[in-house]
Amino acid sequence: MAHDAREDTVHVEFTLNGKVVSVEAQPADRLLDTIRYGLALPGTKEGCGEGECGSCTVLLDGLPANSCLVPTYQVRGRTVETVESLSEEDVAPLLRTGATQCGACTPGVVMTATWIRRHPEVLEAQGIRALMAGNLCRCTGYDGIVEGVEALVARETGG
Ligand code: FES
Ligand code: FES
Repeated sequence: MAHDAREDTVHVEFTLNGKVVSVEAQPADRLLDTIRYGLALPGTKEGCGEGECGSCTVLLDGLPANSCLVPTYQVRGRTVETVESLSEEDVAPLLRTGATQCGACTPGVVMTATWIRRHPEVLEAQGIRALMAGNLCRCTGYDGIVEGVEALVARETGG
């Protein structure tokens, strides 16, 4: 008998950028696709699709996560934030320091930077380069990214 994929569909409700959303998901559906295509928020980008580049980084319950590796059903009841949730002010310091060139890595960089900005105490244990190690950038040499994150943290802490 042929397998009916619809039988595997699950209802998933979660909070996306402050709003409760509902989707129907198959077990293999990736959060990245659910966000980009199912919920029409294309800011989150796909790079490698294998958990290596960080282009698809979102904040899952406040922590950076590679959305290409997260099955959609696993976010039921949880909180997801994408780059669309941020204001221009939240991103501007990164733009001013040359942290973005081609832009492929930028949404992921911005989300990890947002996590650092909200938790400047993590910088005491590890430096910015170590904390951003999961976000690969082929263009900038990382100096602009580090400078941008420093500017974001300084703004947050009044430094
Ligand atoms: S696309 Fe997800 S880590 Fe590269
Ligand atoms: S700006 Fe091009 S990959 Fe980072």
